[in-house]
Amino acid sequence: MSKIFTVSILGCGSRGHYTYGKCMTEKFGDKFKILSVCDTDPEKIRLAQEAWGISEQNCFLDSDEFLKEKRSDALVIATQDRDHVKMCIRALELGYDILLEKPISPIEDELYELLEAYKKHKKKVIVCHVLRYAPAFLKLKEVLDSGEIGKVVCIDWIEQVTYWHQAHSFVRGNWRNDEETSPMIMQKCCHDLDLLQYYVNSACKTVYSVGDVSFFKRENQPKDASDRCQTCKYIHDCVYSAERLYVKKREKDFDWAFDKPDVDDEARKQGWPFNVVDLTRPITEQSIRKAYENSNYGRCVFACDNNVVDNQTVVMQFENGIKANLTMTAFTALPGRKITFHGTLGELEMDEENDYIRISRYGHGTRFLSIKEICALAVNDNFGHGGGDLMLVKDFYDALQGTGELGTTLERSIESHLMALAAEKSRKTGEVCYVHK
Ligand SMILES: NC(=O)c1ccc[n+]([C@@H]2O[C@H](COP(=O)([O-])OP(=O)(O)OC[C@H]3O[C@@H](n4cnc5c(N)ncnc54)[C@H](O)[C@@H]3O)[C@@H](O)[C@H]2O)c1
Repeated sequence: MSKIFTVSILGCGSRGHYTYGKCMTEKFGDKFKILSVCDTDPEKIRLAQEAWGISEQNCFLDSDEFLKEKRSDALVIATQDRDHVKMCIRALELGYDILLEKPISPIEDELYELLEAYKKHKKKVIVCHVLRYAPAFLKLKEVLDSGEIGKVVCIDWIEQVTYWHQAHSFVRGNWRNDEETSPMIMQKCCHDLDLLQYYVNSACKTVYSVGDVSFFKRENQPKDASDRCQTCKYIHDCVYSAERLYVKKREKDFDWAFDKPDVDDEARKQGWPFNVVDLTRPITEQSIRKAYENSNYGRCVFACDNNVVDNQTVVMQFENGIKANLTMTAFTALPGRKITFHGTLGELEMDEENDYIRISRYGHGTRFLSIKEICALAVNDNFGHGGGDLMLVKDFYDALQGTGELGTTLERSIESHLMALAAEKSRKTGEVCYVHK
C-alpha cells in the first residue's frame, strides 16, 4: 500500500479547492489526505469543511495563525499572487514540502529571496507550471528532441485568452489590476514563457514587447450604457454583458458550433468560471444572476478599474540563436494555444482547440496526432489543463515519496518570471531588454 501524505491548503478558492483539493481527494484519495485549511473567507472554509470533513480546530481564517506551526506533511499555497513568497518562505521555515501556485511573485527581489530560502531549508517546492506536465505538451518536446524537424530556427506562439475569459478574470475579476496581482504577461503567459525555454533548451537573452489595453476602457463604452449590467439597456445585446456570460452562456455554450460530446453539461454548469462568481451550491440560474448583480462580476467591462493589457506581443531571442514570437490576445472566440515550430527539416504545429499536433517533414509528408488521444492514453481523464493539473499532483506525490523527480526546478520556474518582467519593462519603455543584466 502506498503512503498517504497529509496536506494543508492555504487559499481555498478556485485553484486550492476545485483543482488541487478536488484532485487530491477525488483522483488520489489513496495518496493524500487533507487535514487542515486556511482562507480569509468563511464561506470558502465552510465549503472546504463540507467537502472534506475537516475538523473545526483545523480550519483557519488567519494565515499568520495558520502558519504558526506545521500542520501536515505538505502544503498547497493557492492564495493571490502577491502573498505567495512570504507564505512560502514561512512554510519552508516550518519544514513543509510545498505546491506553490504560479506566478511566484511579480517582484524580482522576492524571486531571489525565495530561492535563497529554498536552498537553505532543502524542502521541495513545485511551482504550478502545469503545462510542463500535460501529455500533449510533453509530446511536443519529444518530437523536437527526436530531431524529426531538424534544428528549430523560429517559433510562432499564440495564447488565445478568449473574449469572455478576459472579461471575467482580467477586466472584472481578480487579475484586472497589476498593482494588486501581476502583469498580464506574467499572470497569463508565464506558462508559455516557461515552456518556450524548455523547448528551446536555452536561456532567453533579449525581449522586445508591445501591448496595451486597447478595448476595455471608458472611451469604448456605448452611449447611454450603465456601469452595471443589470440596469443597462444593452444587457441582452452586449457580448460582454454579465447576463450573457454568466446566465446565457451557462445555459448553453454558444461559442461552440456544436455540443461537445465529451463535456458533462451539468458539471460544466457547476464548474469554472460560474463557481467563482457564485458560491451557492448547487448553482442555479437565479443564484448566479443574484451573484453577478451583487459583485464586481456585474460591472460594465468599459467601466472597471482594470489596467492589465488585452493584447501583447513579445519577440524573444535565445542564447542559442532561436527566435520566438508570442502573442497573447483577448480577442478570440475559442481558447487554447496555437504553436508552430519552424525547423530546418520540417514543421511542428499544435492547435489545442482543434485537437491536433501536425508533424510535417519537408518532402516526406505530414502526419496528425490527436491531442485528446495523447491525453487519454497518458492520464485517461479530462482534468484541467490537458491533464497537466493531474500529472503535476501525481509528480508531487512521487517526489514526496522519493520515487520520482519533479518535472522542473524552482530555478527554471524563476527564469520564466524574469522573462515576463523583462517583457513588461520593454512594453513600458519601448526598449529591447535583457533578461539577465
Ligand atoms: N496554475 C495555473 O494554471 C493557474 C490558473 C489560475 C490561477 N492560478 C493562480 O492561482 C492562485 C489562486 O487563484 P484562484 O483562481 O484560486 O483565486 P481565488 O480568488 O479563487 O482563490 C484565492 C483564495 O485565497 C484566499 N485568500 C486570499 N488572501 C488570503 C490570505 N491572506 N490567507 C488565506 N487565504 C487567502 C481567498 O479568499 C480565495 O479563496 C493565483 O495566484 C493565480 O494566479 C494559477
